[in-house]
Amino acid sequence: MSTVRFEPSGPLKGRLTPPSDKSISHRAALVAAMATEPVTITGYLPAADTLSTLDAIRTIGALVQRDGDRVTVRGCGLRAADAHGETIDVGNAGTLMRLLAGWLAGQEGRSFTFDGDASIRKRPVDRVAVPLREMGARIDATDGRLPPFTVHGQRLQGIRYELPVASAQVKSCVLLAGLLADGETTVVEPVASRDHTERLLSQLGVPLWRAGDAITVGHVDELTVEDIAVPVDISSAAFPIAAGVLVRGSRLLVEQVGVNWTRSGFLDVLDRMGAIVVGEREQRRDGEVPRGEPVADLDVAHGPLKGTVVEGDEVPLLIDELPLVALLGAFADGETVVRGAEELKHKESDRIATVVDGLRGLGAEIEATDDGFVVQGTGGLRGGTLHSHGDHRLAMLGAVAGLASREGVEVVGMEAAEVSYPGFGDDLARLQRR
Ligand code: S3P
Repeated sequence: MSTVRFEPSGPLKGRLTPPSDKSISHRAALVAAMATEPVTITGYLPAADTLSTLDAIRTIGALVQRDGDRVTVRGCGLRAADAHGETIDVGNAGTLMRLLAGWLAGQEGRSFTFDGDASIRKRPVDRVAVPLREMGARIDATDGRLPPFTVHGQRLQGIRYELPVASAQVKSCVLLAGLLADGETTVVEPVASRDHTERLLSQLGVPLWRAGDAITVGHVDELTVEDIAVPVDISSAAFPIAAGVLVRGSRLLVEQVGVNWTRSGFLDVLDRMGAIVVGEREQRRDGEVPRGEPVADLDVAHGPLKGTVVEGDEVPLLIDELPLVALLGAFADGETVVRGAEELKHKESDRIATVVDGLRGLGAEIEATDDGFVVQGTGGLRGGTLHSHGDHRLAMLGAVAGLASREGVEVVGMEAAEVSYPGFGDDLARLQRR
């Protein structure tokens, strides 16, 4: 495990292109594997989680060539995935585990066993097993709900499934299973969550439409996949953006950031807190499945912040950035509240507990609640030691906290950042040198 110290920083300056989008990279590799003609993905994220996806599609029969962030996949076809008894190792990647289970549930007569690291073995699969079983799949999970688990592919039937909680992973799992199912498959979301799967499938000509909060996908015989370009991940960009907002005198240009409205809630929260982040965003587009992913350059400057409330429909639009909202809250004037975010307990760590313990250890006035946290802003942060608990976003949270703190922060388990942001430390260091 690596321990890295982040000292209080002078102004951060310069331009930066953070890594490509993790969610879109997973989806691009999976749909490429469903095709039979070669597909080239440019801007593929070469991080631990998305390399697990390339290994997983190799295990089920795809040929994969990677040169940096350029990946060529020759897929196995929509209905011809076969692991020949080999276990699919998903590493730390919950998204991979849940989306791939959906596709493989429709491989008639073939079984697939999934396993992963210690963190993945704590992450529930019952949320995808319930709808997949309803469609006709057979799934055996450890203790009925955990990895390792085996999906026994069957002929699937289309269903109408009402998601009990907003989850893009579960939604995407059911939609991918729906491609193979007889008839139409509809997923109803309580509130909008990231729609990368819908955008990608609809761009590939799959019959897919949205009516209010219901998304329907039709049966598909085969998938023709065009080459795919992946934009910068706003969830990764959020760390240098937060650093630019918090470190006195900073001015950054964060380039080519994906600003799909179902992902860019963090920018709205920054606006409400009074942060200076300038750049065009996609407007909310209810009832529509846009094709493609919009990008923007974001101009970021340090400035004072005020507290805010994040709740309700907004939560899924920045679910992975909520740890950063807690950090910003510690620097803001007044109180910052996050509620309705119980889902945080099911991420790479229990992010209500790890964020609250982590930031409190650095001097923040923060309390956990059942479904979020409450932070009393004190205008700054002392510093200290923060454990990543093997969670990439916790590691990067500690690093940003260190740059903005009075005494610096030592992050224990900094290597976790590799899961989504290879070169994170180097990017921060480069911004400090300008
Ligand atoms: C993801 C969806 C979110 C998010 C995760 C990636 C995806 O999870 O937290 O990092 O790519 O679909 P849920 O949809 O389960 O909330």
